[in-house]
Amino acid sequence: MENLRVLILAAGKSTRMKSRYAKVLHRAGGRTLIEQVLRTARTLSADISVVVGYGADKVRAAVSEVEFVEQKEQLGTGHAVLAARDIFSGYSGDLLVMPGDVPLIGGETLDAFLKFHRDGGFRASVLTADADNPFGYGRIIRCNHDEVDSIVEHRDATPEILAIPEINSGIYVFNASSLFESLSKIRNENAQREYYLTDVIGILVAHKEKVGAFKARAMEEIMGINTRQELGAVDRVMRRRKCESLMNEGVTILDPETTRIDADVQIGADTVIYPSVQIYGHTVIGEDVEIRSFNRMTNAKIGARSVLLESCIIDDSTLGEEVTLGPFARLRPGAFLSNRVKVGNFVEIKKSTLGAGSKSMHLAYLGDATIGKNVNIGAGVITCNYDGVNKHPTVIEDGAFVGTDSQLIAPVRIGKDAYIAAGSSITEDVPPGSLAIARGRQVNKEDWTKQRKKKG
Ligand code: UD1
Ligand code: CA
Repeated sequence: MENLRVLILAAGKSTRMKSRYAKVLHRAGGRTLIEQVLRTARTLSADISVVVGYGADKVRAAVSEVEFVEQKEQLGTGHAVLAARDIFSGYSGDLLVMPGDVPLIGGETLDAFLKFHRDGGFRASVLTADADNPFGYGRIIRCNHDEVDSIVEHRDATPEILAIPEINSGIYVFNASSLFESLSKIRNENAQREYYLTDVIGILVAHKEKVGAFKARAMEEIMGINTRQELGAVDRVMRRRKCESLMNEGVTILDPETTRIDADVQIGADTVIYPSVQIYGHTVIGEDVEIRSFNRMTNAKIGARSVLLESCIIDDSTLGEEVTLGPFARLRPGAFLSNRVKVGNFVEIKKSTLGAGSKSMHLAYLGDATIGKNVNIGAGVITCNYDGVNKHPTVIEDGAFVGTDSQLIAPVRIGKDAYIAAGSSITEDVPPGSLAIARGRQVNKEDWTKQRKKKG
């Protein structure tokens, strides 16, 4: 947008969060607060600057394609904007100021707010809302014919002012020159000994500048986060919105209240999600998938028509189409299950590929293994991939049958269509088509029990 720049304030300490980390790096709905605010700000196509201070290095590392300004000491929101004065020298267009801790604001509301500001010919406008519980927010004081007079912080407010439901969102549009001129006049004579950006509004009004207040339709959009409780409240809103948007796209979510889906997850139509499922990160799920209760996945890819029975954990792994998984399976990073693979209870898979139609139905550990098509892995099979120092690969070619309770001591290769007898400890490669038996021979001692009893 022409003649618009954006400044995001993200230098604050997060005192009330009682956190070691910058507040804007906390997450709600699967995104950091700063990431969420930036996404919305980017819809305006304007240059974006971010004021960093507390925990600045980590904030810089988490954010790209913006200009940073450092506020060395955190002396208040007005002080934070002043720290950016130099980068706006010579700029006299509109400046949208947004706090980094108000993440639910929508692009459409910002558009409407900017339009209000421009159509009204204001020098400054503040975005407000009526709150059921205005606790903690600055209150909007309106005088003559409802015009904005000033903003009073909660901690500096009299009981009459505390009764005002209209609150300051912390989002403003200023004419940049008016803003910096007024900012040089603010003082820190208040309850917090801070330089308040909110004081600029009163100063502009006192100088007979035209100041507007635009009331957002829903308080929800301008919920700020100062405490862990508020972080939780915003997280709940984002989770609910995500479930609603997926349901609008044709996904069945049986119990949205207990379903946690991160903002960047994609899910195809006709997929059914049972209660108490957690889907995180950049997971992509195809159409017609069934995900039963207590599954938790992060950065998973799940092909169409797959069925995930109860209680599986999946991290950074890929499932093809029509895969059956679980219950109680664990896919660690790098598991790749091709189409129609079946993996059952208590199977753990790490950095391993299973070719189409292969099965491992019970109690197995498969690590660093490359497994071909239509292979059968019996119950209790273990790839012994680690010798205490290094990891070694196991290769099992197409059609092989690995008998129950076998150990495959890597590095080792099981040839095409080979058979491993149950209970084998395989230490050497098995040629294609052969049967390998690697276990102690059975000895039966007749009448042994009777003789032992006689001996007394
Ligand atoms: C602020 C407003 C309040 C408004 C509320 C909306 C002021 C004085 N008050 O209060 O009227 O209702 O937001 O959520 O502005 N920050 C800095 N440097 C600082 C201090 C803060 O960058 O020195 C940043 C913070 O990281 C945060 C934002 O500014 O992203 C707001 O600061 P915060 O301390 O949370 O202000 P509130 O008390 O919530
Ligand atoms: Ca705040």
